[in-house]
Amino acid sequence: MKKAIVIGATSGIGRSLSEILVHNGYTIGVTGRRLERLVSLKGNDQEKIHYCQMDVQDSTTVESICNKLVHELGGLDLLIISAGIGQENRSLDFSTENNVIETNIRGFTCVADWGMRYFKEQGHGHLVNISSIAGVRGNGVAPSYNASKAFQINYLEGLRLNADKWGAGIHVTDVRPGYVDTDMAKGDGLFWVAPVELAAQQIFNALKRKKKVVYITKRWSIIGLLLQIIPYSILRKIG
Ligand SMILES: NC(=O)c1ccc[n+]([C@@H]2O[C@H](COP(=O)([O-])OP(=O)(O)OC[C@H]3O[C@@H](n4cnc5c(N)ncnc54)[C@H](OP(=O)(O)O)[C@@H]3O)[C@@H](O)[C@H]2O)c1
Repeated sequence: MKKAIVIGATSGIGRSLSEILVHNGYTIGVTGRRLERLVSLKGNDQEKIHYCQMDVQDSTTVESICNKLVHELGGLDLLIISAGIGQENRSLDFSTENNVIETNIRGFTCVADWGMRYFKEQGHGHLVNISSIAGVRGNGVAPSYNASKAFQINYLEGLRLNADKWGAGIHVTDVRPGYVDTDMAKGDGLFWVAPVELAAQQIFNALKRKKKVVYITKRWSIIGLLLQIIPYSILRKIG
């Protein structure tokens, strides 16, 4: 039986992916800060779900909590990082920016590094991170969010380059969603907003195929391509 850990499984994409994994025969370990959400998720499937409350910002506890979950699961094949935050902050309040950096950069790096060291040791495994199409270019509304997602995209490529040298059994998937209908996707002017179940199913399909990079939903790959080539003079009209 396959074993997976989902970081940030209390809501949105992480929760939906957790349900899909269990439905597809995985035993899973789930984390997040909201304990009551973890308890209710386990309530759906007592045998197959283990949980541990975890704040990714607390790098002193991440490793021991992840090790504890692996011990309970009896191994690990797949690590999905879906924990993330983003906030509008044109006024550049530093505590807001710092909170995003602590979660999306420090927290992400701490979990991803732990997972890759584990996979290197055992010779196989699959790291999946939910970054964002936002990481492709800068944005004035939420500068730290886009920049943190750019960090994740670049870092994942570095991890994949390392993994390629470690052998054929270690995979890294960078998932770049457009808008998905979760607590995070708020505000006006949103378009092509995907139902969370559809997004999670497409992510699951992509990870089964060990895709390196995938846009969710598929049509967001067009926007991803456009963002990479449009000049700054156009970007300033939209960002
Ligand atoms: N929704 C979109 O349109 C969209 C688009 C592109 C990318 N994404 C990315 O997708 C990922 C999942 O977001 P979502 O849309 O599913 O939003 P969500 O429903 O708000 O889920 C965010 C998850 O992250 C967890 N989290 C946040 N801060 C945490 C912390 N300090 N420690 C541990 N867990 C933490 C939350 O759990 P707790 O609050 O319980 O800790 C929750 O489970 C994020 O990385 C986001 O940037 C979303």
